[in-house]
Amino acid sequence: MDYAATGQEALLRIEGATDLETVEALRVEFLGKQGSISGLLKTLGKMTPDERKVEGPKIHGLRESVADALAARKDALEAAALDARLAAETIDLSLPAPEAPKGTVHPVSQVMDELAEIFADMGFAVATGPEIEDDWHNFTALNMPESHPARAMHDTFYFPDRDAQEREMVLRTHTSPVQIRTMLAEGAPLRIIAPGRVYRSDSDATHTPMFHQIEALVIDKDIHLGHLKWTLETFLKAYFEREDIVLRLRPSYFPFTEPSVEVDVGYANEGGRRVVGGSGDAPGHAWMEVLGSGMVNRRVIEAGGLDPDEWQGFAFGVGVDRLAMLKYGMDDLRAFFDGDVRWLSHYGFSALDVPTLSGGVGTPA
Ligand code: PHE
Repeated sequence: MDYAATGQEALLRIEGATDLETVEALRVEFLGKQGSISGLLKTLGKMTPDERKVEGPKIHGLRESVADALAARKDALEAAALDARLAAETIDLSLPAPEAPKGTVHPVSQVMDELAEIFADMGFAVATGPEIEDDWHNFTALNMPESHPARAMHDTFYFPDRDAQEREMVLRTHTSPVQIRTMLAEGAPLRIIAPGRVYRSDSDATHTPMFHQIEALVIDKDIHLGHLKWTLETFLKAYFEREDIVLRLRPSYFPFTEPSVEVDVGYANEGGRRVVGGSGDAPGHAWMEVLGSGMVNRRVIEAGGLDPDEWQGFAFGVGVDRLAMLKYGMDDLRAFFDGDVRWLSHYGFSALDVPTLSGGVGTPA
């Protein structure tokens, strides 16, 4: 018997099916229990072995081609249905941009972003630590044991109660505890900055109880003061976006660095405004302290779980608010935290201007 005509017709009808229900109906019609092709398969049982040898492959071939065609049609219709659904379900989540955007990026956020960009370019990662810190990380591990006089210099906010592990808790007075946390968590070598809020009980035109610092820590082999000086110069030139930045390194003391160096930048007094650049010893110029730094004290490296005979490093901590005032010309630190919209719209930055080294880190709004 010739099944070509039966097959031809079945395939045409399958091809013509425009929805999944029709495909299913055709499957039942051809291949279901009572289906026409299933019926043909049953006739094999009544044939002689010779007939079966001839007819068997034909009927099975027919069944297979119909089954394949049904499956292909089903796939195609399902894909089309999915495409249609995806097209129909498109939602526009964007808001129309306001004609005159009101919000601005706070100068502190802007400067933090600028610094992260500058240090990322030098291979520094960003690390963080808690603002509620225990006394060990904030002081002891940084070579300030309990009776150390340097503790008194920090005007610390202490918590009235100890924590569950009986530790004395403080609002961190500097970002330096992140040095310890990062060494303990990540080992060496390290190249990190740690931006964040710090707290001291102090308030006047140049001090607020909460302010911002960025800590930098490099731990590696054979690190020396030259690396510190180069890093500071490169960072301050990039930050102030001028080449004529002159630094003065003054010997100083911090318990966690040895030797310790305080860093001044030269500036000119131009109509009551401090403009950074040039030597502080030049006529009309003076020096201003901008940060504390030094080679990481051996004891701090030990507290960080590292062997100080193998690893050395430098660290510095810089006041972010102070850097913002110097670059963008604000004169009262307290205004930073008043949330006055007029101040923010004057000193704030466009949210769409992201600091980049190629585009200039500090394009004012
Ligand atoms: N933690 C110091 C401060 O807050 C700054 C500093 C950081 C000095 C790292 C040296 C090294 O004054």
